[in-house]
Amino acid sequence: MKKVAWRSPSNIALVKYWGKRGVQIPQNPSLSFTLESSFSEMQINFAAQDGFDLDFYFEGKANEKFKNKIALFLKSIEGDYPFLKNIYLQIHSSNSFPHSAGIASSASSMSALALCICSISEAFGEKLKKETFFQKASFLARLASGSACRSVYGGAVVWGSTSALPASSDEYAVPLPFEMHPFFQAYKDTILIVSASEKSVSSRAGHALMNTHPFAQVRYQQANENLLRLVEILKNGDVENFIRIVENEALTLHGLMMNSEPSFILMHPNTLKIIELIRDFRKQTAIPVCFTLDAGPNIHLLYPEKETIAVQKWISEELVNFCENGYYIHDRIGRGAMLIQ
Ligand code: DP6
Repeated sequence: MKKVAWRSPSNIALVKYWGKRGVQIPQNPSLSFTLESSFSEMQINFAAQDGFDLDFYFEGKANEKFKNKIALFLKSIEGDYPFLKNIYLQIHSSNSFPHSAGIASSASSMSALALCICSISEAFGEKLKKETFFQKASFLARLASGSACRSVYGGAVVWGSTSALPASSDEYAVPLPFEMHPFFQAYKDTILIVSASEKSVSSRAGHALMNTHPFAQVRYQQANENLLRLVEILKNGDVENFIRIVENEALTLHGLMMNSEPSFILMHPNTLKIIELIRDFRKQTAIPVCFTLDAGPNIHLLYPEKETIAVQKWISEELVNFCENGYYIHDRIGRGAMLIQ
């Protein structure tokens, strides 16, 4: 059998994708930082044969649930990748972070899968320039899970059409076409695990809440404006407005869930406690820490690299008390997906 393997990171959205239409088309553009230490590795051993067959192993163990999900996805793309009709795939996947860390793994694993499929396509004769290869991988990753399309690139990544970036698209992500202000380079993200339990609302159900949400149109407009402003901020290093937008986006996401029908409250008491502590710390020390949230209770604490020592000391002395089993993960802006084999 031949094999391909990719390592692909998770990402954290600063302007959130929340709401979609058609085939995984986002209702508004989003912008994320790609992470470095939180990643999935996927190896696919493959051989041409008559008909399609798949085995899937997650961290060494056969996993039927993931297998069925992936088989369904691969079926949906076999029109564009006909070699998938006659192939045996043996997929081995693992994450750098514990399964029960409450970190969404769909972005890292689905982008790794998309990259592997593109590599297999090359093995079957497709020749692509590097740029086109990644664009196709991002397109495919989007079909598997929206936020996954941003994970193929490093640094700050935008998915969704926006006047801020002429090359942007609803169908795939693009990396920022300029160097970020030095202040934001090597930015840090410590993930504070408030709860490691599985998400109580699936992203599919979450996005669907926006279809009938009374604030939907205003939200999409706000996200468009926040994205325009954030792109400027990443150029000019305006950290005060960075903090305002990033925290506003996180709380808007949770606000939208709270006043959806049905309603979801995904923050825990310790999430709020940590938010309070972050805002106090910022006031007292003038260190520009801020937070963002996924669709869950865990906090992503963002801070510039030069404040690492002071911030990490504070995390280990104070914030740790509000983390489940004292658990947190130090991460940072990363370089994007990497071919392993
Ligand atoms: C809150 O990408 O997980 O993390 O496209 O249904 O797979 P699907 O959804 P998913 O949604 C992510 C939502 C979010 C915000 C974001 O990452 O932009």
